[in-house]
Amino acid sequence: MNLKIAVLPGDGIGPEVILQAKKALYAIGEVYNHEFVFEEALMGAIAIDKTGNPLPEQTLNLCLNTDAVLFGAIGDPKYDNNPNAKVRPEQGLLRLRKELGLFANIRPIKPYKALIDASPLKREIIDGADFTIFRELTGGAYFGAKTLNEEGTHASDLCEYSEEEITRIAHLAFKSAQNRRKKLTMVDKANVLETSRLWRKVVQKVSVSYPDVALDFLFVDNAAMQLILNPKQFDVILTENLFGDILSDEASVITGSIGLLASASLGEKNALFEPIHGSYPQAKGKNIANPIASILSAAMLLEHFGLFTEANVIYKAVEKAIEYKVVTVDLKPDSKFGTNEVGEFVSNFIFSKDDLLYF
Ligand code: IPM
Ligand code: MN
Repeated sequence: MNLKIAVLPGDGIGPEVILQAKKALYAIGEVYNHEFVFEEALMGAIAIDKTGNPLPEQTLNLCLNTDAVLFGAIGDPKYDNNPNAKVRPEQGLLRLRKELGLFANIRPIKPYKALIDASPLKREIIDGADFTIFRELTGGAYFGAKTLNEEGTHASDLCEYSEEEITRIAHLAFKSAQNRRKKLTMVDKANVLETSRLWRKVVQKVSVSYPDVALDFLFVDNAAMQLILNPKQFDVILTENLFGDILSDEASVITGSIGLLASASLGEKNALFEPIHGSYPQAKGKNIANPIASILSAAMLLEHFGLFTEANVIYKAVEKAIEYKVVTVDLKPDSKFGTNEVGEFVSNFIFSKDDLLYF
């Protein structure tokens, strides 16, 4: 298969973790005879520094005209600590999501057996947890009208949803549930928010087409508690943009490190793959950031194009790295391995398909 992949390394640890994902894809291409052509472009704080624009037109055009986008991380403390900044790195990612129509963000959560004790949660609570969050990605308060009065004393972010926006992601979530354990939990705040009541109504309507999927509803405050009290109850979670952002970071605690979680953002025509973690500026250039979330994002990219055998080799390689403790310090505080070594292990595994060769 020929794939043209736009690579946006972004800020902070983005470039170093994305390099490892590229290495894994390169190895897959060599071993399975695929031609993956990578084209790099600027987005985020680095793009602001070089062009004044967090999403330069050139980057946007590239992403609109490729098969897939592989994205690293975005954000820089110099903007986080300056609420008055007129342009922000995050605007680049948000605009890209909107322009590519990436309405569904899929975040799978499943702890590795070998890492059960890396989580601060008790083994019996998390062992066996396996669920996927479907987060709506182009609506809600992220994209509603924003205001700030002249005195800087009053601000608003409008949260809006249309039936159509809810329907299209609901179908994807139900289809995913059909291929899993056939349970879908809609998370909202329907006791307070009008948008949540619309979500409930629309999701109930969509559910008629999926009679084999059990649908239930949870208020987001309760869901936040249930996620760590009893995560095994979940199969597919469907929720709006902001709730999904918050709940997926919380859910990462189950796996032991946010550095393990990958995601796919899908639209009608385009697809983007990214780790769910941020730019972790404190770790930049230190070879300590966990590249697994990026490497797994590359595997999700392969799956998206139907390359399941290839994706499974990456999943296997990551499992082996974890089993042999070739992991970064977030998973093993005294580890002597860094970003590069984990990435090397994975690509060596792909090339040799022999996990013992490494030692
Ligand atoms: C994420 C990130 C982004 C979001 C930020 C960087 C804008 O936290 O992908 O979860 O809030 O969506
Ligand atoms: Mn987030």
